[in-house]
Amino acid sequence: MENRQNIITTINDKRYEIEGDKAFMPLGSFLRQEINLTGTKIVCAEGDCGACTILLARDVGSDGKLLFKTVNSCILPVYLIDGAHVLTVEGLKISETELHPVQQAMADCNGAQCGYCTPGFICAMAGMAEKLKSENKEITEKRTKNFLTGNLCRCTGYKPILEAAASLDLSRTEYLKDRFHNPTWLLEMKKIKSMPMNMDFTGKKIKHNIFLPVSLEQALFAKKADPELRLIGGSTDIGVVVNKGRLTTPKTMALYHIDQLKKISHDQEFIEVGATVTLSEFEDYIESFIPEINKMLHIFASPQIKNQATLVGNVVNGSPIADTIPFLMVSDSIVVLQSIKGKREVLMSKFYLGYKKLDIRPDEIVVAVKIPRLKKSEQLRLYKVSMRKDLDISAVTFAGIVEVENNKVLSARFCLGGVAATVIRLNEIESSVVGEDFTKEVFVNLGKTLSQYISPLSDLRASKLYRMKVAENFFVKFQAEVSSGVV
Ligand SMILES: Cc1cc2nc3c(=O)[nH]c(=O)nc-3n(C[C@H](O)[C@H](O)[C@H](O)COP(=O)(O)OP(=O)(O)OC[C@H]3O[C@@H](n4cnc5c(N)ncnc54)[C@H](O)[C@@H]3O)c2cc1C
Ligand code: FES
Ligand code: FES
Repeated sequence: MENRQNIITTINDKRYEIEGDKAFMPLGSFLRQEINLTGTKIVCAEGDCGACTILLARDVGSDGKLLFKTVNSCILPVYLIDGAHVLTVEGLKISETELHPVQQAMADCNGAQCGYCTPGFICAMAGMAEKLKSENKEITEKRTKNFLTGNLCRCTGYKPILEAAASLDLSRTEYLKDRFHNPTWLLEMKKIKSMPMNMDFTGKKIKHNIFLPVSLEQALFAKKADPELRLIGGSTDIGVVVNKGRLTTPKTMALYHIDQLKKISHDQEFIEVGATVTLSEFEDYIESFIPEINKMLHIFASPQIKNQATLVGNVVNGSPIADTIPFLMVSDSIVVLQSIKGKREVLMSKFYLGYKKLDIRPDEIVVAVKIPRLKKSEQLRLYKVSMRKDLDISAVTFAGIVEVENNKVLSARFCLGGVAATVIRLNEIESSVVGEDFTKEVFVNLGKTLSQYISPLSDLRASKLYRMKVAENFFVKFQAEVSSGVV
């Protein structure tokens, strides 16, 4: 099969071919330094402030049109926009004399003070308009706050920004997917996704390689040939450490051109989430199956991060305070690994061997996560405590599933995060509570036994003592909520 040696992309409806070190730059820096699109701002360079927000369409929807979603361009390497359409704040204007309705609303409502955050807010608001219009939903203050949760304004001009959003009339806002519908580009997108991209270049210090396979077979052979090949999902973990200079990624492989890994599906037993399914896609899909996860994902990062980050990336990053792992572990989810020799399935509770040490063999790729469907009798609760409720790194997390009959505990599973080198299952506590009465007293006592099994650390986010107390209280909260039916 023919190999390409360049990234082919469209930015504001203009086609670009990008090669060499530019393909490794963060997209925000590429836009500003290489093609003079300086409307996009870089402030934190770690995905936190939203100043660098742009719209990215990598896929088409069921109507055959581009699906534009907001992402942070500061942590997104250029090679992740291969075959995609990028829109920046400059591309949103309708003509030289007519602004996009969001831009006009921000101008009319005085939504900019120093203006540094404004392009990011405008792109985030344009992304909100695109999504709400497609879902036939109105703009409300609550929805606006949710969509703009990843954008900070240091001049604190939030009120006029919210007023600008409230003044938008979605019926008069043209879809971006219609305005930028370009059949020639759509045909080329298809072609790009059928041709693997393999590019080498020698930088100042090291030789780099990027591989974008278009089939799983190609990906597995590449991983076998070079176990050092670094897998890249959405780059929301990796992009931050690379920007901070703590990691170089000389040999990388991203899987997003492989259609079979983009799938999320279910049968009677499992919900299966492919390696490149983003957290937003997962959030939309899982809502009707396990709504408790949506409550957790609601306070997990910003829309920009969730539109880019993958569930598998969260699992493989393996942080003891990752927010999806406690649920996946407590529900006995399974990590599906694959090499050219075949597939291997590992239970989440056996996947973490130590701090960031995982049961992945050098030639393996994680291809999916399988989540067992909950039984009707199983009650699930997920808790997270952090310094700030929204968009903050967890200090302690908890996941619990219990079955209760005639006020007796039939089965119980518990996980804690942020109290050890990995998220942990509490097997001893689980077996000790089975057969007991489902009462506050029993769960208060369970919490008190925790010190036998965990010894949390003190760090910037919380002291050891605080973590112990929070973990203990989670058990009391869990019993109170489940017994009173609070969700
Ligand atoms: C601003 C911000 C807020 C955040 N908020 C939260 C939060 O609230 N809660 C939380 O838990 N996390 C949070 N994160 C962390 C991050 O977004 C998540 O961990 C995310 O799910 C990572 O997914 P990714 O696809 O971007 O991973 P990447 O950064 O692409 O990769 C992460 C790791 O997974 C490996 N990997 C990826 N795909 C595969 C594969 N198929 N096979 C094998 N290895 C693979 C990579 O090599 C890497 O080691 C936040 C990050 C940022 C920047
Ligand atoms: S510059 Fe702050 S999120 Fe990108
Ligand atoms: S207007 Fe100054 S940072 Fe928002």
